[in-house]
Amino acid sequence: MTHIRHPRQGVSRRRLLQAAAGLPLLAACHDSTPLRPESAEQRVFQHGVASGDPLADRVILWTRISAAQAPATVRWEVYRDPFLTLRVTQGEGEVSGDSDGCYKVDVSGLDAGRTYYYRFLALDQVSPTGRTRTLPRGAVERLRLAVCSCAYLPDEPGTRFHNAYGQIAQRADLDAVLHLGDYVYADSDLSLAEYRARHAQYKAQSAELREAHRQHPFITVWDDHETTDNCWQDGGYQPPDKPLIPFAERKQNAMRAYHEWLPIRTPDPADLGRIWRSFDFGDLLTVVAPETRLHARAAQAYSFNRVGSPIAGAEGRELLGAEQMDWLRGTLRAAPTQWKLFMNPVQIGQLYAGLPDEEGGGTRYRNMDQWDGYAAERGRLFDILDGADGGAPVQDLIFMTGDWHCQFANDVLRAPYGAAYRERGEGVLGTEFTIPCVSSGLEGYEPAELFAANPHFKNHEFPARHGHALVDLRRDTATVEFWHTDTVETREHRYRLNVGFPLTAGANRIGELLRTPTPTNTEAPSLAP
Ligand SMILES: [Fe+2]
Repeated sequence: MTHIRHPRQGVSRRRLLQAAAGLPLLAACHDSTPLRPESAEQRVFQHGVASGDPLADRVILWTRISAAQAPATVRWEVYRDPFLTLRVTQGEGEVSGDSDGCYKVDVSGLDAGRTYYYRFLALDQVSPTGRTRTLPRGAVERLRLAVCSCAYLPDEPGTRFHNAYGQIAQRADLDAVLHLGDYVYADSDLSLAEYRARHAQYKAQSAELREAHRQHPFITVWDDHETTDNCWQDGGYQPPDKPLIPFAERKQNAMRAYHEWLPIRTPDPADLGRIWRSFDFGDLLTVVAPETRLHARAAQAYSFNRVGSPIAGAEGRELLGAEQMDWLRGTLRAAPTQWKLFMNPVQIGQLYAGLPDEEGGGTRYRNMDQWDGYAAERGRLFDILDGADGGAPVQDLIFMTGDWHCQFANDVLRAPYGAAYRERGEGVLGTEFTIPCVSSGLEGYEPAELFAANPHFKNHEFPARHGHALVDLRRDTATVEFWHTDTVETREHRYRLNVGFPLTAGANRIGELLRTPTPTNTEAPSLAP
């Protein structure tokens, strides 16, 4: 049982010396910057600092000049130590209203597998100290990642809390945080100003979100709610009390605000939907971060949750699209790593409704917004995994999935309802973990009915579960843990392990459930003070 705190973990001299040991020559640093504490009226950095998309030699640093004085010059500094005495690199740039006051820099020339500390200076103010980490190269023995999604916040401050983000922030031994989407819920927003205000609301309102960003690099993918509910490449939920504007315009507004406000690298500024990218953590893990909503996704076969769809499996219906599928095939096949983690906004495992087929025929899947509504596209992905496309099969792929707000763990395979799997467990291609959400809701489902019809699901909990996942990877084994926070209505809460799922390299399936957590890494670099 842990109660929420907002610690400023002390940094020991021993740790500092460890951090500095064996480093290349560092610039002597005699900082003459005037450091004045920010007043409540003039909080230049009130939306915090963040880092993301780490590579072995670089990382994106983010902040926002939240005072009204933009345009402004922003200086950034990167240090080896949490006391900000061993400066590694620095620079400066301009921030203007064109980016809503947001500032990003892709800091390069860094060492692989290192923790760094950073800050920004602007308008005679200094930001909170951030902490980030580059990806390792070569042989890696262990990695630990937090995985989270779905962080709904009402407009009224103080009515819901991101307790899971607060817990993630306190874990010093994370290599990165993976966010699977629904970072904001912007279903009622249309204009660029509205989408920007939505991101500002979340970062201003949630100290826990700011703290998680401050302590760890994030790798993010969006799901639907960053744009609007159940969106696809050319449509989505329209708020009934708002004017209808072309969806292309709305989508552009949502994507632009996302790229401004998140510490994501923008691979193609001319096409903000091209966010698919991958991250190699040495020889241990490749993380695949796809785009599943706005680039190629066809319209849902039926409306949300409607049972049955004769067209769900139609060949031409795409979710990733051909270009991204080619990229995925090449990335997974070329991955120099033991484990692969697919950041999956919507569930890939089949989920039969377990209900009478009122439509007569059809696939009878539960949720047409998931991969079930794009069965042919899922088949093309499975062709990569089992080598049916003529290439080498892909082993040890873990789908980490958001969207649902409850929790599931299931085997991933082509034919979960057939005798070969039911009787002999054959045909499994990978595993999927649909994670507890940070703070969103879910009501009204009946699991017994649903799961009697779905033998590949090994764990399920309804209705909403709040918390996050933790992935602990080693060479021969991996463990996926679901951590719960017991409330999102107060900051006071309890935090505990709900269940862990052990995986063995080469097995491609879920083993016996665990009830004790994997050990923390006590040698982890200090949190930022
Ligand atoms: Fe969600």
